[in-house]
Amino acid sequence: MDHMKRLAKVTWIAAIAAMASHCSTSKVQPYLPGAKEASSSSPTTTVTDGAISTAAIAIANGEHGSVDSVGAFDKTVHPLTVKWCGSCHDKAQSPLLGASDATAAHAAIISTQKVDFNAVDKSRLVLRLSTDKHNCPVDPGCGEAGKQMQAAIQTWADAIKTAATVNPVTITSDPLHLSDAKEQTVVGVNPDGVLAYFAPNFKVKAPMVATTDKTSGNPVINTPTTEKAVGNATNAAGDNSLGTASTTVNVATDGTYTMFGLVNGPAAAMASFYIKVDGGTLQPWLFKTNAAAFTWESVASTVGGEALTFNLTAGAHTIEIRQRQPGVQLARLVLTTNPKFDPSTAQATSRTANQLKFDLSGPSKIAGAALTLEIEDYAANGYLFRNPRLVVPTGSIHAKDLRILINNTFLPQNATFTVVEATVAAPGGALSTAAMIAVKDQGSDKDAFSVSFATFEAK
Ligand code: HEC
Repeated sequence: MDHMKRLAKVTWIAAIAAMASHCSTSKVQPYLPGAKEASSSSPTTTVTDGAISTAAIAIANGEHGSVDSVGAFDKTVHPLTVKWCGSCHDKAQSPLLGASDATAAHAAIISTQKVDFNAVDKSRLVLRLSTDKHNCPVDPGCGEAGKQMQAAIQTWADAIKTAATVNPVTITSDPLHLSDAKEQTVVGVNPDGVLAYFAPNFKVKAPMVATTDKTSGNPVINTPTTEKAVGNATNAAGDNSLGTASTTVNVATDGTYTMFGLVNGPAAAMASFYIKVDGGTLQPWLFKTNAAAFTWESVASTVGGEALTFNLTAGAHTIEIRQRQPGVQLARLVLTTNPKFDPSTAQATSRTANQLKFDLSGPSKIAGAALTLEIEDYAANGYLFRNPRLVVPTGSIHAKDLRILINNTFLPQNATFTVVEATVAAPGGALSTAAMIAVKDQGSDKDAFSVSFATFEAK
């Protein structure tokens, strides 16, 4: 399947794709597109009636849209999909329309076009119940559940159709195409005290290899499949024929860190590494076997034991992982000063991504000012956008309500970044850590993207 190739390329995007795609049942914890940051109360711009190909986005062909589609969905359809469908469609079964995270469930439904706002009764979400009799809830049964689903979708559709005052967009960039995107090294945005390293961030020494796990699509570090019995950590420390994977971590402030690895320990005697920080002692890192799934395991010296702690001072440190058992894989390593942090939400501290760069030097009168935005052509019918960042060579820019326009049209459900309001000073910074899935319009070879802000002031 075509998009599996891309899954192989970029793990964290793969995890998002897995959430909304039809053909993946990846066991990797999805990296949720940043939870919707707040609901937007800002009025909307006029939505033009461009030739939009999918019924799912036909709501835009109404007059004006209120932007908070996720909010309306969360009050209408989402409670039903969680209650009736969540037992299967929350993590494992695509589409993830029953995910407890409303933004994720909304994205899954919109990107796979399971609702038809123009003909609500023809929505797949309704037909699955009333016609297909697909896993209907015992109470109230297929027919009644279909009716309730239809009513909920109607309420959702009405909510986002409600006319809002028109507020002209202050600035709009020139359009760019997917072919204008350039591969760039980007820095992930994580909470303070969180550092994340993905397999491609590690330098690998044979016989360990950097490869891609075919089942999950995860780029991984793999220990050799043949055992090399060294007996203990002391022997291992002195054995230079063992494979290693190392990375340099840059700690911003002194702290006590615990670590988590996204690991695959397929079977007994295949579920451990050795680990050391800087010139410290090599310690065994043991975790439970997971039947070739990838699970997050804390770095501990006994299976399920207390997590090891590492006192790191601000500055650069080296983490080295050594082979201890055969056929073990590491996809990600997360360091955090908060042991309760959910490591699956961490972004790679450094990675490559396809980036569009919208020139904003005109409206800002600041030479070189721009907005960079990552774009991924991630599925047959969708784009994934994330990490909008302002580049501000001098001075500062106050920006509010970022909209991504596809072929000059803003669609109300593409409202993830409308909650943005920030004053960004030189050299620039992130506007949002959220991700947004948008349905394609005329296809990735034709669609033109531009960005607009309702407020945009440069100083
Ligand atoms: C017991 C597990 C289970 C439950 C509960 C369940 N589904 Fe499914 N669903 C599946 C499986 C398995 C598939 C894939 C095979 C198929 O298409 O039937 C699927 C596929 C789908 C699809 C994609 C295929 C299509 O026809 O569009 C949709 C939509 C869907 N389910 C909707 C729902 C809705 C809505 C609910 C809740 C009312 C629900 N499912 C409850 C297991 C479940």
